[in-house]
Amino acid sequence: MADEQTKYQLSESEIPTQWINLLPDLPGDPLPPLHPGTLQPAGPDDLAPLFPMGLIQQEVSPEPEIDIPAEARDVYRLWRPTPLYRARRLEAALETPAHIYYKYEGVSPPGSHKPNTAVAQVYENARAGVKKLATETGAGQWGSALAFACQLYGLECEVFMVGSSYDQKPYRRTMMETWGATVHRSPSDLTEAGRSQADHPTGSLGIAISEAVEVAAGDPSCNYALGSVLNHVLLHQTVIGQEAMSQMELAGEEPDVLIGCVGGGSNFAGLAFPFVRRVLRGEAETRFVAAEPAACPTLTRGVYRYDFGDTVGLTPLMPMYTLGHDFVPPPVHAGGLRYHGDAPMLCGLVKAGAVEARAFRQNETFDAALRFARTEGIIPAPEPAHAIRAVIDEAEEAREAGEERVILFGLCGHGHFDLAAYEAYLAGELEDPEFSEAEMEAAIQRLPEVPAPSS
Ligand SMILES: Cc1ncc(COP(=O)(O)O)c(C=O)c1O
Repeated sequence: MADEQTKYQLSESEIPTQWINLLPDLPGDPLPPLHPGTLQPAGPDDLAPLFPMGLIQQEVSPEPEIDIPAEARDVYRLWRPTPLYRARRLEAALETPAHIYYKYEGVSPPGSHKPNTAVAQVYENARAGVKKLATETGAGQWGSALAFACQLYGLECEVFMVGSSYDQKPYRRTMMETWGATVHRSPSDLTEAGRSQADHPTGSLGIAISEAVEVAAGDPSCNYALGSVLNHVLLHQTVIGQEAMSQMELAGEEPDVLIGCVGGGSNFAGLAFPFVRRVLRGEAETRFVAAEPAACPTLTRGVYRYDFGDTVGLTPLMPMYTLGHDFVPPPVHAGGLRYHGDAPMLCGLVKAGAVEARAFRQNETFDAALRFARTEGIIPAPEPAHAIRAVIDEAEEAREAGEERVILFGLCGHGHFDLAAYEAYLAGELEDPEFSEAEMEAAIQRLPEVPAPSS
C-alpha cells in the first residue's frame, strides 16, 4: 500500500460556481406540486407564504445551471471543497478487486452535507428581509446546519426535533442551542399540529414538519425551511457531485456504480445528479443505487402517488413514492431516514429505472458501519451506514465476479452524536423492527383522493 494516494483534494478556487439543475434533463414534463386545499397545481404564489421568491424561482427554474451567489460561496469556503478518499484499507479487508471511493461531507462545522443548502436558503431569506426560520429536524443534522447558517446571517431559528431523536441525541440539541436556536421536542403542545399527534410520542419528520409549517404560516416575519425533498434543496447539494467528478478525474477513474443513502433524497441527489445528467445525455454508463432503511422503505415498498409532505396536510402534495403521510416509522437510529416520502425528482428516476433502490435492516447496517470505522477510521452517521452496507455488498459481488468495479459513495456525515446507537449495537441490543405491510395498507387508504401521477 506504500506511496498510494488516499485523499484527493481540490483548492478553494475549485469550489463550484454554479449548481446543477437536473430538472430540464429529466424525461417528460415535470409534475407540478398540488395545493393542499384545492388539489389543483400550485404555482409560485402558493409557495410565497413559506419561502422567499429567490428560492421559489430556483424550485421551478428551467435553467440547467444556476449561479451560486458569491456571498454563499464565500461561506462554503469554511469547509469546501470536501475531501474524496480512496478506501484502500476497507478494500484490503474485503479482499476485493473493487476500487472504493467516498466523498466525505462530515468535515462541515455541523458535521454533514446539510449546510450546503442551509447557507443557500438562509442567504435568500436574509436577502428577502425575513427575520426568523422555523424547521423540523430528524437526526438533528439539518437543525444544526440551519442553526449554524441562521447564526451567520443574524436570523432567529426555531427547530421542532423528532421526539425519538431528541431523546437519543441530547447533544445535537445543545449544538443547535450553541448556535442560538430554540429547540422543541416534537410532537409538542405549542402547535395545533403537535397537539393533534400527542398519541405518537416518538414523533416523525412528517409531524415535525407540520409543526414548523404552522409556526411559519402564523408569523409574517417567519418563513419555513426544509432540509431535503424539494428541488431547490437537491440543487444546492450538487456542489458535492461536481467536486467528486473533478476528484475522480484526479484519481483517473470513472465510477461504475454510485451509492448514497436516502432519507428525503438530498445527499443522494447532491452526489449523483451531476453524474446522472451525464448518463441521461448518453455520455456515461454509471449505475446508481439508493440505500434506505427496511423500517421505512419508501422507495422499495411505497406507492407512487401524490401525497402531502407532512402529516397533518399543510404542505403542497408532491408526486412521490410514499408510505402515507401519517406513517410513523419505528424509532430506528437513522433518524434522518425516517421520512414517509422522497424527493419527486429522485422518485421519478427510480420509477424510470435510472436509479435502483435497496433496503437494509438496522443490525446489518451497523455491522457495515463498524467494518468501515475499523478500517477507515471515520465513525459514520447511521444514515450513510446504509450506503456503506450497499457498498460492501457491491464490493463482495465484484470479488466473486473477479471484477475491478469502481464504486463511489457518499459519506454524508459523521456519527459523533450517534454513539448511543453504537453502544446499543455493541451490546447486542439493537432491534430490527419489521415494516408493517398492514399498517401501510391502512395509511394508503388515507391518501388524498388525487389520481396517481402518470409519468
Ligand atoms: C447524516 C444524514 N444523512 C442523510 C440524511 C437524510 O437526508 P437526505 O436524504 O436529504 O440526505 C440526513 C437527514 O437528516 C442526515 O442527517
